[in-house]
Amino acid sequence: MRNSAPNEAPTRTATDSPALELRGVSASYGTTAVLRDVSLRVAPGSATALLGPNGAGKTTTLRLASGLMKPSTGTVELFGKDITGTAPHRRANDGLCHIPEGRGVYRNLTVRENLAMQSTKATGKDAVDKAISAFPVLGKRLSQKAGTLSGGEQQMLALSAAYLSEPRVVLVDEPSLGLAPIIVDTVFEFLNTLRSSGIGLLLVDQFALRVLEIADHAYVLRRGAIVYDGDPQTLLDGNMFEKYVGETE
Ligand SMILES: Nc1ncnc2c1ncn2[C@@H]1O[C@H](COP(=O)(O)OP(=O)(O)OP(=O)(O)O)[C@@H](O)[C@H]1O
Ligand SMILES: [Mg+2]
Repeated sequence: MRNSAPNEAPTRTATDSPALELRGVSASYGTTAVLRDVSLRVAPGSATALLGPNGAGKTTTLRLASGLMKPSTGTVELFGKDITGTAPHRRANDGLCHIPEGRGVYRNLTVRENLAMQSTKATGKDAVDKAISAFPVLGKRLSQKAGTLSGGEQQMLALSAAYLSEPRVVLVDEPSLGLAPIIVDTVFEFLNTLRSSGIGLLLVDQFALRVLEIADHAYVLRRGAIVYDGDPQTLLDGNMFEKYVGETE
């Protein structure tokens, strides 16, 4: 929590702060502007959907939140604390976990070694037990190099980080990409469990309807700007979904 000088307006307390907040964030790759004045909030213990067509800026938004990219203007806050200038590992220590598109596992390490790397407080065995309770198939793959796992197994291994690093906020980019439908079900069940445990989730996924099923709030990005900020049901009603999200299913 920040301290206020005596004459400053009172700062919000940790309890009424969103878990994650982006305020007026803009960003560019070189001279190409990709995000314009993006503001969004993720409440603790809630799932927030970030939808939009290909190239809209969803991945870029997650990269800004986790510190892999810096905004040209605007701020990023974690539980009311301004973290705009801090490095990704500092944000991770503060409880922000980013599961990037394309798995994010160490391919040349075994499953057991990957779990140990993801783990903060749990000992090696605790880490393994926790991951296996969420994803039993990993129990049969402990000595296997992560690079030799199937796509679904790699995704489950990547998602274990959201358990083992004991985060307060989890950013997930396209977790169901390339996965069989039954594994997509497992992944969404897992995400729902994380939300119920009090974690604030920011979810990007091609299966917009699946994300909206578990989302408490939805944003839609188009061409780098937020065009919808509201409840998921209103987005689904009428023609808003087609108008804003387009051909995503
Ligand atoms: N490293 C980069 N250098 C230059 N331009 C980039 C880079 N990464 C992304 N872009 C561009 O920025 C825009 C936003 O990309 P971003 O990856 O954030 O979109 P997205 O919404 O995640 O798309 P998708 O649904 O296809 O994953 C796109 O026009 C993309 O081509
Ligand atoms: Mg993307």
